[in-house]
Amino acid sequence: MRFCLNVDHIATLRNVRGEVQPDPVTFALMAEQYGIDGIVVHLREDRRHINERDVRLLRELVTTKLDLEMAAIGEIIDIACDVRPELATIVPERRQELTTEGGINVIDDINNLRNTIHALHQSEISVSLFIEPDLNQIDASAEINADFIEIHTGHYANAIGEENIFDELERVRVAAKHAKKLGLGVNAGHGLNYINMKEFVAIPDIDEVSIGHAVIARSLFVGLELAIKEMIALTRMNS
Ligand code: PXP
Repeated sequence: MRFCLNVDHIATLRNVRGEVQPDPVTFALMAEQYGIDGIVVHLREDRRHINERDVRLLRELVTTKLDLEMAAIGEIIDIACDVRPELATIVPERRQELTTEGGINVIDDINNLRNTIHALHQSEISVSLFIEPDLNQIDASAEINADFIEIHTGHYANAIGEENIFDELERVRVAAKHAKKLGLGVNAGHGLNYINMKEFVAIPDIDEVSIGHAVIARSLFVGLELAIKEMIALTRMNS
């Protein structure tokens, strides 16, 4: 399983003071040296953490893979087509939310998403749709030519009790298998950490995980190098 690191939280810390440190770009480049497979940033419409300067610098400097999380709205699509990350992951966005709260509804927004995928493909950007582990959402994603899905793992991460955890894991397992059968690449993320990854890594059809909060938080205690290497070890447990 590949592991891509989301560095939005470094930008959040920088922005609290309105200064230049800590710099998410420097942090991302160090993370690459420690062996991660890609960098993820979310350019929000309200620019609450990552800004355009970060995205453009990352595009110049990242040598692994840049995954730009974005809402399917005109202004951000234009920036993405100009910057050309390897992957654009379409996520829902609400101003009031603390973080991304769930998957997009592909069926309800199918025409907008079809047009968004078409525009991004014209700029040779692969597209992933961040969705719930729901077979109808996966079918709709394949129908409009998404290259990947990213399965929202928040319900798994928040599940309490053995039975609920098993059920949520099973939903992800079934969804990933279905997506693979349709020829989609399968990523996953949200709320994954050093504890819940131990079971998660056994799901065979997940190609890549996107993790931010747990790794950034752990790096405060043990340093970035160790935090990353510990997570890399977990993600490779099944390979
Ligand atoms: N994937 C997506 C689509 C996200 O929006 C986020 C949160 O920014 C993540 C993965 C990473 O979640 P976490 O910070 O909980 O690891």
